[in-house]
Amino acid sequence: MKKLTLTSALSGLIWLSLPSMAHIEQSEPFQSLRQSYFALLGMTFAPMGDMVKGKIEWDDDRFSSWANDLHHVAQVGVERGFAPGSEQGTTRAKPEIWSNMTDFQSKLEDFRAAAAKLAEIAAQGDSAASREQFIATGGTCKACHDEYKSKDYLY
Ligand code: HEC
Repeated sequence: MKKLTLTSALSGLIWLSLPSMAHIEQSEPFQSLRQSYFALLGMTFAPMGDMVKGKIEWDDDRFSSWANDLHHVAQVGVERGFAPGSEQGTTRAKPEIWSNMTDFQSKLEDFRAAAAKLAEIAAQGDSAASREQFIATGGTCKACHDEYKSKDYLY
């Protein structure tokens, strides 16, 4: 197991201020798959947040390349990481996911659509519009986490 601390978390957006722990554990392939997906989202989203907050200098090309990465990672079929029977183990995924799969899927699609739009807007090089869409995208992460992600490991 590898411990990752997202020191560059955005204040006010608690989903990034939590220490995060991605793991690849052969006995838990589905948990590992989904956590790797989300860890990659987090590690892509965090530097964009640093730019939005002015912690690092704004650069259209870098922002756009991160937005592209986010968009492409978003497309990965993380759904198979939520296979029946993978509710337990080393996970922060709440059991409600499996009883509300349609709603969970729709929140995932909201996020994917927001990330696609972010990549599109960022490519146009309008930093104000990029900032606005970045915040909207963060809202789609939060909407899912509020309902379906526990703060601590569950089991
Ligand atoms: C459709 C729901 C959903 C969306 C959208 C979503 N997440 Fe998550 N996220 C989860 C769930 C569920 C977990 C817990 C997975 C587990 O522990 O098995 C998680 C875990 C994480 C983790 C911890 C990963 C680890 O190392 O274990 C990070 C970081 C994260 N999400 C960041 C993000 C960011 C950033 C976004 C948006 C850019 C996002 N998430 C969008 C549901 C979502």
